[in-house]
Amino acid sequence: MAVASSQRKRTPESAAIRSANVPPLHRRPAWALLDQHYQKLKRVHLRQLFADDHRRGERLTSEAAGVYLDYSKNRITDETLQLLLQLAQESGLRDRIDAMFRGDKINVSENRSVLHVALRAPRGATILHDGRNVVPDVHAVLDKMADFSARVRSGQWKGQTGKRIRNVINIGIGGSDLGPVMAYEALRHYSDRRMTFRFVSNVDGTDFAEAVRDLDPGETLFIISSKTFTTLETMTNARTAREWLLSAMKGETAAVARHFVAVSTNTKEVAKFGIDTTNMFGFWDWVGGRYSMDSAIGLSTMLAIGPDNFRAMLGGFHEMDEHFRSTPFERNLPVLIGLIGIWYNDFFGAQTVAVLPYEQYLKRFPAYLQQLTMESNGKHVTLDGMQVDYDTGPIFWGEPGTNGQHSFYQLIHQGTRLIPCDFIAFTKPLNPLGRHHDMLIANVFAQTEALAFGKTADQVKAEGTPDWLVPHRLFEGNRPSNTILLDALTPAALGKLVALYEHVVFTQGAIWQIDSFDQWGVELGKALAQRIIPELESATEPKLEHDSSTNALIRRYRKLKGAV
Ligand code: F6P
Repeated sequence: MAVASSQRKRTPESAAIRSANVPPLHRRPAWALLDQHYQKLKRVHLRQLFADDHRRGERLTSEAAGVYLDYSKNRITDETLQLLLQLAQESGLRDRIDAMFRGDKINVSENRSVLHVALRAPRGATILHDGRNVVPDVHAVLDKMADFSARVRSGQWKGQTGKRIRNVINIGIGGSDLGPVMAYEALRHYSDRRMTFRFVSNVDGTDFAEAVRDLDPGETLFIISSKTFTTLETMTNARTAREWLLSAMKGETAAVARHFVAVSTNTKEVAKFGIDTTNMFGFWDWVGGRYSMDSAIGLSTMLAIGPDNFRAMLGGFHEMDEHFRSTPFERNLPVLIGLIGIWYNDFFGAQTVAVLPYEQYLKRFPAYLQQLTMESNGKHVTLDGMQVDYDTGPIFWGEPGTNGQHSFYQLIHQGTRLIPCDFIAFTKPLNPLGRHHDMLIANVFAQTEALAFGKTADQVKAEGTPDWLVPHRLFEGNRPSNTILLDALTPAALGKLVALYEHVVFTQGAIWQIDSFDQWGVELGKALAQRIIPELESATEPKLEHDSSTNALIRRYRKLKGAV
């Protein structure tokens, strides 16, 4: 079905992006070759691939910016890689990378540049947006954040009653929450332990109530983080926070300036809310929400870990950006991971990817990645607005190891679905405790080995297993994984890891020729909720014009809450 491409406003730049002459995916020569190749390879076992090449485990690896990738336990051969690299080339990946770094408006449906890479460019670099170098603007905001963080962290910034700030609550949702909360958890080791950090995102009042129940308003600073400053959840929580503060401050509205700061692109709405715009930290429409944790949206991160650590994190991001921008594709980590992901998604029909960090501090990393990957690549039309006839973004999910091993790994090992896994681990622990770390890392290596090689019926029988039990106890193996190893979870390492996945998403979006930077799919539900809210709250019986199910649910809710 052709989606109404003619209804979309075509911009000159989006036309330029299309005119890169990238044929539809199925018409790129590498696609047909990969399809034929898949028919040959789909039954080949990893046991065979490893037996055929004793150096495979050393050869199919790549290392850059302190990130070591072992991709040998994937169902690929040199020919697969060569064809995938050919696909990248035929998909114009190089041109698209250059277009992003050049500031072209590659977010075609919103006619915006995609310049999160400018957020971590070093002082002195030049990245142009509409002819203007944005790097000095980025550093001006970083300097303002650093100055503010230093004042709060040192106790120089006082609350309305003269107390120092001990609690920071970030109010935001989606990219204005998941990045900050993930980064705070990930870098907790480096945080100021005298301060408390909390994150309120859900419009469910429980989120706010539980976040503040043991806090002194006089010691609490709210960061209202919202790119648009119009998001229902965030503005509702922000208003509740203001009431909570003012009720403790006996209605003293001047307290708002001491206890509220804003991070936004929307100065007008920030001022309308009553936050002094001198206490506003800006960013720009060329930063997507899910790509914003290293912008002013990271203010809570900087308050927690301090400006120097925050800058070290940006340094890590930048190192991975430079690797992605300039390294030949055959050694380029995001490109390799992205292409191997395409192989499983579009040829093996894998529906999901499991991300399994063996690092407790990364417990929110899978949740963060869900927005990054699925809001970016959960798209059904190409840049041209044509319905795709192939699968785009897979479902990302995961939990830290070893916990996941005792819940869902059963399905990965013996279930009927193919689930490619990314195992992430660090060679040095941040909390060295006896033998813990060796045990943790042994489990990473054991899991990838078990997934790849399994255990044959003969091996199971040789252990004395009765015949009837053998099928239950065998592991067919041939289940693919990447192993991503870094040194230690430092701020720089986190930056590298996040940038790695950002560019994996970019690589895949380029192959699928989709807009990885819009998110129209979230709009319909938001609009319908706005229509339903007054229907739930109305003092008189509202005239309902939804479908019969929605009408009945609304009536039932109203009845049970005693509205009628
Ligand atoms: O609803 C999705 C979304 O627009 C995300 O893309 C974004 O990160 C989130 O909402 C929050 O938006 P804002 O920062 O404008 O409040």
